[in-house]
Amino acid sequence: MVWEVGKVVAEGLSRNKHPLDINLVRASCLLHDIGKYLCILEGRGYHDIRGQEILDSEGLTDIGRIVVQHVVLRGEKDRPLAEEHVLFYADKRVVHDEIVTLDDRFVYLEKTYGKTPEAIKRLNMMKEETLFLERRIFAVLDFMPMDVADLVLNPLHPALSGAP
Ligand SMILES: [Fe+2]
Repeated sequence: MVWEVGKVVAEGLSRNKHPLDINLVRASCLLHDIGKYLCILEGRGYHDIRGQEILDSEGLTDIGRIVVQHVVLRGEKDRPLAEEHVLFYADKRVVHDEIVTLDDRFVYLEKTYGKTPEAIKRLNMMKEETLFLERRIFAVLDFMPMDVADLVLNPLHPALSGAP
């Protein structure tokens, strides 16, 4: 489902003069949690970093560089929108196999991971960062955050594509 959301966002950005490598978005969306299984199995580690290690060891460094940023974005906050922003955002719009709002996603994250005041503080910071990113992305796009679920189901929505 993260890929379905990522596709809608990446295609929208490309359509609006922010060309992205759609294959890179696809691969990183599909593989972004590849490190999770080993982390659970071993009971330690960070699945974003573990994911990059796995992908690097397979020679997939371009994908690893994006996957490692799906929990925390690296680099300058206002750098041009790129593949890692799409993955980061798409991941925050999905809970299990359902497309949700950022508010709903962070309610879920707080219930699941908000065990300590520090964890809640970190999640609140992440939410602020994600809302900032959502505003940046949708300042470019020709649809609204609430349209994403509909566009996943109907990619060529006539009302949104400008067709009569
Ligand atoms: Fe993840």
